[in-house]
Amino acid sequence: MKKLFVLSLLSGLFVSNAQALEVIDLPEPQIDKSFTLYDALKNRKSVRSYEQKTLDAQTLSNILWVAYGVNRDDGRRTIPTARNAKDLSVYIADKNGVWLYDADKNELKQITAENIMYAFGSQSFMKDVPAVLIYAGSDKEHNFSVMHAGSAYQNVELYAAATDLGCVVRAMFDKAAVAKALQLPTGQHVIVTQAIGYERKD
Ligand SMILES: Cc1cc2nc3c(=O)[nH]c(=O)nc-3n(C[C@H](O)[C@H](O)[C@H](O)COP(=O)(O)O)c2cc1C
Repeated sequence: MKKLFVLSLLSGLFVSNAQALEVIDLPEPQIDKSFTLYDALKNRKSVRSYEQKTLDAQTLSNILWVAYGVNRDDGRRTIPTARNAKDLSVYIADKNGVWLYDADKNELKQITAENIMYAFGSQSFMKDVPAVLIYAGSDKEHNFSVMHAGSAYQNVELYAAATDLGCVVRAMFDKAAVAKALQLPTGQHVIVTQAIGYERKD
């Protein structure tokens, strides 16, 4: 059953709302160490032109680990969080629905099979973008989760710059529609999004 959902996420097969929401086991993140941080910093930029190509499970796993994954045995993350609060939630949306990243288990938990890509689509390049990261958190405690979202999206910016991926942070989206689809608990809100895919170079 898990395999079926991985396939549908990756190949873009239609997943109807009638199907049970599932959990996807992600492959272990694989990080290419051939790029230096300096290369990534030099190449980092916002990308607004994308190939119409989906992200495979390995690439998704890599992106999510970079954004907010566990990088030490004690469960701490690739980003710093105030008082080790880990109060950021990272979701990924594609045309088959929205998934919540569980960093401890390296899993994606499907939240909805609804296609909410329309909610991100006010800029023309968004029609080609295969996936959108959504950062959500609480606005309590000095807006720490907003700062944590900034750390996570910058990690992804640098990772994309070190690979053939492209991304752009996006504050222009239908916040109400996205919050509704995410079924956020009281006190949680959508902070910002980040479109991600393969950069079109022509
Ligand atoms: C919080 C934030 C929100 C942004 N929102 C958008 C957006 O909605 N649409 C967009 O095309 N770019 C957006 N950007 C990208 C900026 O426009 C971009 O970083 C800036 O123009 C500098 O270009 P560069 O990233 O290529 O250096 C956003 C960036 C940040 C940090």
